[in-house]
Amino acid sequence: MLAFVVGYLLGSIPFGVILTRMAGAGDLRAIGSGNIGATNVLRTGHKGLAALTLILDGAKGAVAVVLAGAVAPVLAPIAAAGAFLGHLYPVWLRFRGGKGVATFLGIALALHWPSGLVFALVWLGALAVTRFSSVGGMSAAVATPVAAAFFERFDLALLFLFFALMLLWKHRTNLERLLAGTEPRVAGSRTV
Ligand code: G3P
Repeated sequence: MLAFVVGYLLGSIPFGVILTRMAGAGDLRAIGSGNIGATNVLRTGHKGLAALTLILDGAKGAVAVVLAGAVAPVLAPIAAAGAFLGHLYPVWLRFRGGKGVATFLGIALALHWPSGLVFALVWLGALAVTRFSSVGGMSAAVATPVAAAFFERFDLALLFLFFALMLLWKHRTNLERLLAGTEPRVAGSRTV
């Protein structure tokens, strides 16, 4: 229980909102898609802040896993679930959080780096081909439980499947925009 709560509190730190506000760029939730993730920070025009948001949103998931794993390995996936749900439903933002891409990546790298590597490669590949950040994230999320199963980590495959389903649910407005042809593409240091 403590591992889940500590993971949740770490995961619920909204780095995108904090960094954007510190940079004087306003409330991220009132910009672009309204999401608190790195893609939407990019829409403020601050490329460095977007990169930092991506790193910190990933790092908070990895830190939760490493801290819990140092106490007992069995606690690591529990803290991971806490961190992921903390990012998606942070108490500080009335449970209106992010979509989970960066935090999933950080968690996967810390729990089982080969699965994390698959996440990163599929994400970058799909993003490079389509220029849709959401397609990159959703493709990586779906590929990661398959990768964990391929590596015979069926315990993690189940956890990652849960994460992937949550992530797809959080991307439902992106899916609607993709189907309607109105999803903005990432172009260089901004989204268009
Ligand atoms: O990581 C979130 C990304 O997949 C989509 O973000 O702002 O375009 O909804 P956004």
